[in-house]
Amino acid sequence: MADGLSKDKKSSLKMLPSFVRSTPTGKESGDYLALDIGGTNFRVLRCSLNDGQIQTNAEVYPMSSEVMTGTGRDLFAFIADCIKSFLQKYDIKGSNIPLGFTFSFPCTQHSLNRATLITWTKGFTASGVEGEEVVQLLQNALAERCPDFKVNVAAIVNDTVGTLMASAYENPKSVIGLIIGTGTNACYMEQLDAVEKWTGDRDDPKQVIINIEWGSFGDHGHLDNIRTGFDREIDEHSLNRGKNTFEKMISGMYLGEVVRLAALLLVKDGALFNGNAGDKFNIRESFETRYVSEIVGENGAANAREILKDKFGIDASESDVDTIVKLCNAASVRAGRLAATGIAAILLKINETKDRIVAVDGSVYKKHPTFAKIMSDTLSELIPGNTISWVLADDGSGVGAAMVAAVTKV
Ligand code: GLC
Repeated sequence: MADGLSKDKKSSLKMLPSFVRSTPTGKESGDYLALDIGGTNFRVLRCSLNDGQIQTNAEVYPMSSEVMTGTGRDLFAFIADCIKSFLQKYDIKGSNIPLGFTFSFPCTQHSLNRATLITWTKGFTASGVEGEEVVQLLQNALAERCPDFKVNVAAIVNDTVGTLMASAYENPKSVIGLIIGTGTNACYMEQLDAVEKWTGDRDDPKQVIINIEWGSFGDHGHLDNIRTGFDREIDEHSLNRGKNTFEKMISGMYLGEVVRLAALLLVKDGALFNGNAGDKFNIRESFETRYVSEIVGENGAANAREILKDKFGIDASESDVDTIVKLCNAASVRAGRLAATGIAAILLKINETKDRIVAVDGSVYKKHPTFAKIMSDTLSELIPGNTISWVLADDGSGVGAAMVAAVTKV
């Protein structure tokens, strides 16, 4: 992390200054629009902040893989069309309503509302966006597709930053924003003195939220001693080869695939499914992370049996079911322990191990029944006696962008 904050040392952690310098006071108020892109859905929200209360209207627009992997022009046209239909549905007229844009990819931030995409992650590859100024692309698409609506993009933020900000609105003890979803990443408030590469002013408040982009930890070989053949295979078949090593061991886009590849090795050895997994189980990414969540929870064995039968046409024996449950648990424990190790490293760096909050959002954290416990147990092993609480910032990645817009206004 220290290398990433320096001017010229190399680091696999990008440590990106977010330009967000203060957390909310809880007194912010007003109406804001928020956009949230970064997983499998695009969302538009209207957030009303009123003295510590947040009210939201939100619409979810599923994104096809064609949109994610086509041209940037089509991607931003899709976004603009969704915004248009949202504005119509909620009868929001072309006003100057401030908009916060959660764009959950690594970006070099030039100011609070200007950011350049460094590289796509998580299965996005839309052409002509890397190296470009994202707010400009949004504004161009809006000008073309809903010209009546005058946007005022007040802020573009990473989902981790949004999560920390949304949580801080309700609880000032929040110090870290964490996402365990399609991808994984964390951010934290850093003292400007520690950010050698910071080029902005050094006035008060002498702090800035840093988007770590921890997903790419390991890209320089630091995780090689614990990577498995399954991890290497996932990487080889991914759209961002050689990148986001840590993320590929933890997040929802990959967790089910880790289990599937481990299971296939046992099948090959004749130790699972009588040595024959059938066609469906052999399809890449067919074992989705949501199945892992169903299998590690209550009634896990029964769920495993049902999923194997219904989704894969496999009549599993007792011992097959037992093995699948064990594999799902093992992959989950590994993921949770790795994420918690990252959190421990941040807490030790900022010297905050007592009475602080880690704000968490993301589909895996919300749906996986044991992930939260695995992380907190691991943190207790790594930092005995810590009194850190893990708090779900539900919808933090959406509401947070509105919060940043609000804090800027105040
Ligand atoms: C990926 C993105 C990162 C984001 C994370 C969680 O790692 O690069 O910006 O925060 O996913 O969505």
